[in-house]
Amino acid sequence: MYIAFEGIDTAGKSTQIERLRSRFDDVVVTREPGGTELGRRIRAILLDSGGVHPRAEALLFLADRAEHTERIIRPNRRRLILSDRSFISGIAYAHVHEKLPVDTLLQLNRFATDGLFPDAAVLLKLDEKTLQSRLGQKSRDAIERRGTGYMMAVQRTMEELLDLLAIDHIVVDAAQPVEAVTETLTQFIKERQ
Ligand code: TMP
Repeated sequence: MYIAFEGIDTAGKSTQIERLRSRFDDVVVTREPGGTELGRRIRAILLDSGGVHPRAEALLFLADRAEHTERIIRPNRRRLILSDRSFISGIAYAHVHEKLPVDTLLQLNRFATDGLFPDAAVLLKLDEKTLQSRLGQKSRDAIERRGTGYMMAVQRTMEELLDLLAIDHIVVDAAQPVEAVTETLTQFIKERQ
């Protein structure tokens, strides 16, 4: 089963994936961008430099996703795949940044993944105050420097997409204590295994 962990930066996706991986057998942990060798190179270009044109940026994320789908997701479909981000991030960040229509982005993502989308998704949702305080405690990469208004719009788009595409999902308040979030997510995954 392929589960995507979604949410804006600092929502706690990687923390939750790390906590969950030991609770299940036969787990594959991966991420976008950067789950493959090509992806690590694309990730460095995107997050360290900034200044890439928005359409070029969207296509680099799609290249990462195509490689990730074929090298990591498809060969491991029978295992429990916990992926830090997916095409949901791909559409949401690009839609808000570049104002590209969602249906165009959906088509591009169908091409990149050859139609392999997550079986289920987790959305870790943050309120703006918590986001501001968490961002204040870290150095920001090129995307995080776009600000909290941008990130809240991305989060709204993620939630709308999960509904629109009828993806089996759970929305969890990411400002809760880490342990409580892990318990909720453990239950969500167990119910689907
Ligand atoms: P992260 O690995 O720390 O979550 O960073 C990835 C960054 O890239 C994050 O700011 C979200 C952004 N992103 C996009 O803009 N488009 C995408 O398709 C993906 C997967 C991530």
